[in-house]
Amino acid sequence: MPFTANRQFKAHPRLLTQADGMYFKTADGRRVLDGTAGLWCVNLGHSREAISLAVARQIRELDFAPTFQMGHPLPFELAARLIKHAPDGLNHVFFTNSGSEAVDTALKIALAYHQLRGEGARTRLIGRERAYHGVGFGGISVGGMVNNRRLFGPLLTGVDHLRHTLDLEHNAYSRGLPAWGAHLAEDLERLIALHGASTVAAVIVEPVQGSAGVIPPPQGYLQRLREICDRYGVLLIFDEVITGFGRLGAPFGAQYFGVRPDLITSAKGLTNGSIPMGAVYVSNTIHDVFMHGPENVIELFHGYTYSGHPVACAAALAALDIYEQENLLTRASTLAKYWEDAAHALKGLPHVIDIRAIGLVAAVEFAPVPDNPGKRAYEIFTRCFERGVLVRQAGEAIALSPPLIVNPQQIDTLFGTLAEIIHDLP
Ligand SMILES: Cc1ncc(COP(=O)(O)O)c(C=O)c1O
Repeated sequence: MPFTANRQFKAHPRLLTQADGMYFKTADGRRVLDGTAGLWCVNLGHSREAISLAVARQIRELDFAPTFQMGHPLPFELAARLIKHAPDGLNHVFFTNSGSEAVDTALKIALAYHQLRGEGARTRLIGRERAYHGVGFGGISVGGMVNNRRLFGPLLTGVDHLRHTLDLEHNAYSRGLPAWGAHLAEDLERLIALHGASTVAAVIVEPVQGSAGVIPPPQGYLQRLREICDRYGVLLIFDEVITGFGRLGAPFGAQYFGVRPDLITSAKGLTNGSIPMGAVYVSNTIHDVFMHGPENVIELFHGYTYSGHPVACAAALAALDIYEQENLLTRASTLAKYWEDAAHALKGLPHVIDIRAIGLVAAVEFAPVPDNPGKRAYEIFTRCFERGVLVRQAGEAIALSPPLIVNPQQIDTLFGTLAEIIHDLP
């Protein structure tokens, strides 16, 4: 099983068999409130009928079509619709099947872009500590979660990392963006000075670090990264696999923070999690660099059998209709204050050492149990599930990211159940 304690799970399985709206149903017939949008992806709520109908229709009409030297209309239609919600100037889309593939695709486009411009020495990639960029070799190389890296060899060469920005001495319990930490963006300038600007291709960051425990950027941090990238000709990639599609209250984190990256990776909410799909958005400038040379020659030697799969496109188009009709790309902004207050109401409970909330995502961090990393958060996660609430363990933290259709009563249930369980912990 992926990212699972296999033996423990098989001894005590947690099986979900149905889902509707804000709820899962378990194999033993219990209703479980989805506090995690599945795995940060079911933004519109579960089992949206329009998506299942679109998928069923599409699979009957055109189950598959090759997209290497061939095509079908749906990826073009989808790309044209998607870029309307993307930051200005990110007008081209490359489809993948997952966030991990989107990350590898973005890194490869960044490297190729510099090659094509005659700056082939720009091969270094810079990631950040505590980053999660999926599980491809590119993604774990620029990623910064040690367990995802340490058993898998030397990874990509020429990769360096910025420090992460979570320092509880300075920014625990911040409301809004932490006031402390923007200076950590200067790490990028230091690394560029260390390696030489002419060797650095791109820096990749999640605007809000997700899987490592919901770490919002310090005020001004992303702006500083953008400035430094501009100064040294380094591409800025935002990995928006979690923050994309309305999680923060804007279509993308880029718009929420007012910082325009050169590439964006996305997946998850793109199809509401219903069919695997990812997408990489690139700027016109990057796209145009590839569009040279003889017209019969392939410009980008990269792609997946299922890039732009018709059924995934149909799911994404139906999902986009719902995002637009129900204003779900921005709804989180109307609930963000309520959400933040509900999260911070847990301050002062036993073992709680930090609370972080932004848009409709939050984390409650616990003091670690000595010599037993993650034990407390795991226990809270399993107890929540027994009590009918799905939350997610992220290291020493519990992360919450409900579907964007969540209502205030359900927010109360999520944090209320969590509070009771924390209170009763041994
Ligand atoms: C920021 C980020 N990038 C990439 C990924 C990888 O996506 P996938 O699991 O679809 O490969 C994730 C998944 O959680 C993610 O959060």
